[in-house]
Amino acid sequence: MRAVVARPPTAGAELVDAPNPGLAPGRVRVRVLEVGVCGTDRDIVAGEYGEPPAGSPALILGHENLGQVAEVGPGTSGLAVGDLVVATVRRGCGRCRFCLANRSDFCETGEYSERGIRRADGYLADEYVEAPEYLVPVVPALRSVAVLLEPLSIVEKAVRMGLAVLDRKEPTPGFPRTGAPSALVAGTGAVGMLAALVLRIRGFDVVAIDRHDADVSGELLGVIGARHANVRDGVGALGGARVDLVIEATGSVPLDFDLVDVLGPNGVLVLTGIPDADAPPTTVPGGALFRGLVLHNQAVVGSVNANRTYFEAGVRDLRAFEERWPGLTARLISSRRPMERWAELLVERPAGTIKNVLTVGPDGSSAEGAR
Ligand code: BGC
Repeated sequence: MRAVVARPPTAGAELVDAPNPGLAPGRVRVRVLEVGVCGTDRDIVAGEYGEPPAGSPALILGHENLGQVAEVGPGTSGLAVGDLVVATVRRGCGRCRFCLANRSDFCETGEYSERGIRRADGYLADEYVEAPEYLVPVVPALRSVAVLLEPLSIVEKAVRMGLAVLDRKEPTPGFPRTGAPSALVAGTGAVGMLAALVLRIRGFDVVAIDRHDADVSGELLGVIGARHANVRDGVGALGGARVDLVIEATGSVPLDFDLVDVLGPNGVLVLTGIPDADAPPTTVPGGALFRGLVLHNQAVVGSVNANRTYFEAGVRDLRAFEERWPGLTARLISSRRPMERWAELLVERPAGTIKNVLTVGPDGSSAEGAR
């Protein structure tokens, strides 16, 4: 089968002919339809992240995925040939209490693997084999947007983390909040844009920031009733606005510190962008920073990966997005190209794009394919 592989920590990638994975009892063979490309994939191709499976020099790339069940092994239940599925990414260590409870996104040993990223092959290949517990069914009506489910699962978890902290102060019986809660989303890539959608559905006033003037992302934000702001010169451009919740999706260290200044009293900043570990050291006024966090009950929390429950929440929200803003979610996908053109997406992110997708199987993303 065709597969795009990298050899971390060596930079580079190539399209190769790889052996088809064998089907075993209790497993499902999935024909890959689409794979989304993100910064993590580009970091792996740059040789800065990722790890091949044990004993192999090569790692099949791809973790944002959509596929179709092609064959069901004996003793498998719950899925049938033809079903659309999105596979989760992380596989647990098999030892810690979180992994044993299907919550490997909180793995305590660090001995997890992640398909397409760390110690396990990914989905940028003609097919893969997996156990049904890691395959999330998607209804055909969501065919054209389902490749966004993995980044949406990251958002679902991050928002849940934020709301868990915000819930400390809600509700106060007899003293209901006046006005909508407010949120700021940092970054208008797929994670940032999906966060804006989720937060609008949850009733937040939303401003989304990035470092360029409003383009298609700004237009889409306008449609969902969110605001776009260019903060190229820092969050001071927001004029001292303070919000309840910040969802960060940039991985920019200086911005991470700036975002603390945007928090209102009792606010929470959830970080999802993964900064470069070799980012230049930053000098921060630590006293003022921590003093502010304490005096205002604020929290800064990191959030990585997502377990199956967040993929399932994402399926519900994809439907909610379609109901509220028909056709809008599909516009987050800026381009689709055949997997042979992997190099156009896995080296640099094309400017001005939100989510770029490699098509592996037949392109059924058009209106005709999306039943
Ligand atoms: C993926 C997550 C993963 C993280 C760290 C992200 O790009 O979406 O599933 O846990 O990278 O490897």
